[in-house]
Amino acid sequence: MDGLDALKAKYLTAVANVADEAGLEDLRVAALGKKGEISALMSGLGKMEPDQRKAAGAMLNVLKDEIDAALRAKKAALGDAALNERLRSEWLDVTMPARPRRVGSIHPVSQVMEELTAIFADMGFAVAEGPQVESDWYNFDALNIPPEHPARQEHDTFFMNRAEGDDRPPHVLRTHTSPVQIRAMTAQGAPIRVIAPGRVYRMDMDQTHTPMFHQVEGLAIDRNISMANLKWTLEEFCRAFFEVPSVELRFRASHFPFTEPSAEVDIRCSWEGGQLKIGQGDKWMEILGSGMVHPKVLAAAGVNAAEWQGFAFGMGIDRIAMLKYGIPDLRAFFESDLRWLRHYGFAALDMPDLAGGLSA
Ligand code: DAH
Repeated sequence: MDGLDALKAKYLTAVANVADEAGLEDLRVAALGKKGEISALMSGLGKMEPDQRKAAGAMLNVLKDEIDAALRAKKAALGDAALNERLRSEWLDVTMPARPRRVGSIHPVSQVMEELTAIFADMGFAVAEGPQVESDWYNFDALNIPPEHPARQEHDTFFMNRAEGDDRPPHVLRTHTSPVQIRAMTAQGAPIRVIAPGRVYRMDMDQTHTPMFHQVEGLAIDRNISMANLKWTLEEFCRAFFEVPSVELRFRASHFPFTEPSAEVDIRCSWEGGQLKIGQGDKWMEILGSGMVHPKVLAAAGVNAAEWQGFAFGMGIDRIAMLKYGIPDLRAFFESDLRWLRHYGFAALDMPDLAGGLSA
């Protein structure tokens, strides 16, 4: 049994040097497997004399246990190393800030519509809607703009074709959101408080005009509504929308067929170094038209003008979006240039609300 020491040294060295679990298993089979070296020596015991067998058997058992222990210890060590390696390679720093992945962008016009809807909702205005293809009665007549009225020409109207032989007046692409006043009052009567944001169309195209643009109409009818309520409402809106502590509005007498009296409203601002500031400075920027709803308009919508009165206004949404977010060219709004949208757009999950800050 002199060879046992050599055998022991051979296996212990091999176990110490083996690099992975597969190699270790090969060693186990070679030493202790059914046809392994130790097993072969064990089966040789049967041919020995009893005394010899006893001594050799004990030595072989010790050797077998030693090799077995070495194999197990190595197996555990390899397992730990594998786990450590995995932990090291899969390590991640859960304290790092998440990288926000942008899923599309919200167009500034949509953003501004959400903002102004939130502000007016807070003041008790619901959102009303009307069709973009409108009859000319709603778009003009009901708003006290009869066919011969010069305001019809000023609207640069797009007319829809009628079928051959159909001589009813053509439908138009609505030239303003004011027809929604008529639809809302007809449907709901008075009292009423609504805004109507949406698309409008006029045949016009230059740096400050596009054939399609956006307006928001406002309408508040009750028993005692006056110009004072109009002024307060618009000031509240501008303060909230432009996110400044105070604004100053200037009401200029004007004329619209659907209001009497009528006023155009300018907001105080300054232009310094190409930077627009709302609420301070010595410049005025026109932002909307408004007035007390004309009795004929109330009548057209079936509202008794002897009992009810109120104000209306119409404001350009694209205009106030440009002012608030410093966007220089109106035409770029509608060119569908993704680079522009990525620059001026808003994150999709950032819904504006008054509590959270509108454009935070
Ligand atoms: N509809 C007008 C326009 O497009 C804007 C307007 C002015 C709306 C006065 C109103 C208003 O409701 O009272 O130019």
